[in-house]
Amino acid sequence: MYAFSRAVNSMHSEDIKQLMKQASGKNLISFAGGMPNNDLFPVKQIDEIYNSLPEDLKKLCFQYGPTSGYPPLIKSLKSYLKEKGLPVDENKILITTGSIQAISIVTREFVNEGDIILTENPSFVGALSVFETAGAKIHSIPIDKDGIDIKALKSKIETLDRKPKFLYVTPNYHNPAGIMYTPERKKELLEVLSGTGIILLEDDAYSDLYFNEDEKHLTKPMKSFGVKEVEIIYTGSFSKILGPGFRLGFMLSSEEIFEKAETVKQAMDACTSNFMQILGNEFLAQHKLKPYLEYLRSEYSERKNLLQKHLQAYMPKEITWNEPKGGFYIWLKLPPHIKSTDIFKETVTKGVVFVTGRTFDPASKKDDRLRLSFSNMPKEQIEKGVIILSETIKRAIENSKITLS
Ligand SMILES: Cc1ncc(COP(=O)(O)O)c(C=O)c1O
Repeated sequence: MYAFSRAVNSMHSEDIKQLMKQASGKNLISFAGGMPNNDLFPVKQIDEIYNSLPEDLKKLCFQYGPTSGYPPLIKSLKSYLKEKGLPVDENKILITTGSIQAISIVTREFVNEGDIILTENPSFVGALSVFETAGAKIHSIPIDKDGIDIKALKSKIETLDRKPKFLYVTPNYHNPAGIMYTPERKKELLEVLSGTGIILLEDDAYSDLYFNEDEKHLTKPMKSFGVKEVEIIYTGSFSKILGPGFRLGFMLSSEEIFEKAETVKQAMDACTSNFMQILGNEFLAQHKLKPYLEYLRSEYSERKNLLQKHLQAYMPKEITWNEPKGGFYIWLKLPPHIKSTDIFKETVTKGVVFVTGRTFDPASKKDDRLRLSFSNMPKEQIEKGVIILSETIKRAIENSKITLS
């Protein structure tokens, strides 16, 4: 299970190994997987696309391609990103093998051992893994329901003795926190970075998965704001929409950053699979993405509504969360004396798993939260899973009262 590789290497590896063992068992109710459910993948559409490819394109699927990416896919991506308001003409696109590769490339390009990277707290565990593997010193900044804590960010930048190489953020439908930066918070963040020379690495893996069309404008990427004083590298992924098996991601950056990134990528894997790039391009070029996204949005919104409803019905009043407006995750807050890892140890024996809070803390400590993903589990299991989880949490709260009194 890729998502847990960082934790496996951390001091809490025993818990996570246990999770992995349990997660491979049968009849498990898993709120853990941050990926689409297998039943949601566009299997039919991809069958049709491949079967109707001309023979020469089928052959090209098996071939190497340019390191920067399959040119027709770059062209299709340009239109897709232009619709998001992104400055595609003044920047360059690099196709990557998943957006985690884009994060790895940027890290290799800018970070030497001991260099500082700023992240949110909590932050996407895959990115933390990349930064740790590069030997970076991670300084994390708390987030609230509207985005990164601006005061804390300012004071962190002022007190550090060296300039951080970049700030890594996930402003839209955050993993794991499920939150959405407000437009004001995005602007404030850009103001803080202006003139500091700190690069902004904007990870936008989930922005197409909003639940309400009226809120689509809130997903506007910071790179589209036209702020020239901040160097922004924008990354995106098809993993949450077409499927992680595609391993299709991309980065949009200035030409200078692109050129070095292309060299780094060449040394990593020469090129992203032509097979997947050709299929992905046909999906975009044949205008199949829009209707498929509409289907996904209604599916995920239904799953979120179910999870929200059952959490409201069964969770004790001490448990709080923000209802997400898109994406895959609900981030439950436990009372301060209850640890998510302890809850996990209980629920796993009853066949329910989730991802513990400290997995997403760069220091692997803060454990008063737990991440529930509604994207991957069968809808009919949500209620049973919530009942088991809430009973366990209620018992832990009762026991803690006894211990405290
Ligand atoms: C915030 C975030 N960024 C990036 C990724 C990585 O996606 P990819 O499969 O494109 O490497 C994920 C996957 O979980 C994610 O949650």
